Amino acid sequence: MRIAISTGGGDAPGLNAVIRAIVLSAHGRGWQTYGIRRGYGGLLGEDGIMTLTPERVRGITHLGGTILGTTNRGNPFCWVVKDASGKDTEVDRSSDLVDAFNASGFDALIAIGGDGSLSIAHALWKMGLPVVGVPKTIDNDVVGTIATFGFDTAVSTATDAIDKLHSTAESHERVMVVELMGRHAGFIALNSGVSATADVILIPEIPFDMNKVLEKIRKRDEAGRRFSIVVVAEGAKPKDGELLLLERRSAGSADRLGGIGSLVARAIAEQSGKETRSLVLGHIQRGGSPTTFDRLLGLRFGAAAVRAVADRAFGTMIALAPPSIARLPLSEVIGRAKNVPLDSDTLLTARELGICLGD
Ligand code: F6P
Repeated sequence: MRIAISTGGGDAPGLNAVIRAIVLSAHGRGWQTYGIRRGYGGLLGEDGIMTLTPERVRGITHLGGTILGTTNRGNPFCWVVKDASGKDTEVDRSSDLVDAFNASGFDALIAIGGDGSLSIAHALWKMGLPVVGVPKTIDNDVVGTIATFGFDTAVSTATDAIDKLHSTAESHERVMVVELMGRHAGFIALNSGVSATADVILIPEIPFDMNKVLEKIRKRDEAGRRFSIVVVAEGAKPKDGELLLLERRSAGSADRLGGIGSLVARAIAEQSGKETRSLVLGHIQRGGSPTTFDRLLGLRFGAAAVRAVADRAFGTMIALAPPSIARLPLSEVIGRAKNVPLDSDTLLTARELGICLGD
């Protein structure tokens, strides 16, 4: 059995743990493993294939990123190439990919990715590729799994950053606004905001009213708390406003969100008269060593993916369903985003702690 591994889309802490577990579990069965470099680039002539031996994956469990490299502009169905005039244009290279996969003598593909990469995996499975998906994203927005690896690390990083904002905010009696990642889901902002005692948390699931944010800051001032911490998810939007995009991308990749934090900060400064600063925590949330939770989840996902290959359970995704690991048809997972449920216990807790959610 020759298993190929792909890690397309944005990286997430824990990816290398998944790779290591796949390689060791497969080799334990006498199988071989290969890493497709840079998403699917390694099969489409833009990079190579890496032979993954147990020696090659030694000591990588705790490392962030992916030893295979990645891209989030690597959708084989909308592959970006330069046309004769040097302009970017998209072509469907999925058949080339299937041909290259078969020519390499691979028997299975383990595709580790978020919603976009899992949709690609599903489409490739429909074209006949024996695929098993593994959910990966710091955003935690993949349906069917209680958690994706990478999320816990991102939340820890964000919590640490918000903790650090407290002392400077208090010393200067300022409002500090921090924009966090998460795309259209508010999990990172909510979990880190509650854990790090934010005063306001704005998430995509609850369109916010600026007056409520200002009221919260004013009440804190009146109570002698002359500083405030405002956490804004990059996908948050005002009740009567638009989602802010940093970059509209081509059909094959998701748009880039961002900018709402500085808009909120400007509105607070203008309307409250308080000195306000904003920052975007950005890709720091995707970096660094995975937490214990993400390492273990990554290792469990990798081992479970090889078990799925052994059972020939293709067209499925590995999922965390505590205390077990489950398999779900990819068709039930793709194209559906997981969001913070409005009746979630964490939201309820936030409200009971007096945190303003902008509604
Ligand atoms: O999906 C993970 C994520 O980090 C999102 O939270 C964020 O919106 C996006 O990827 C950023 O993508 P890029 O790496 O293209 O800047």
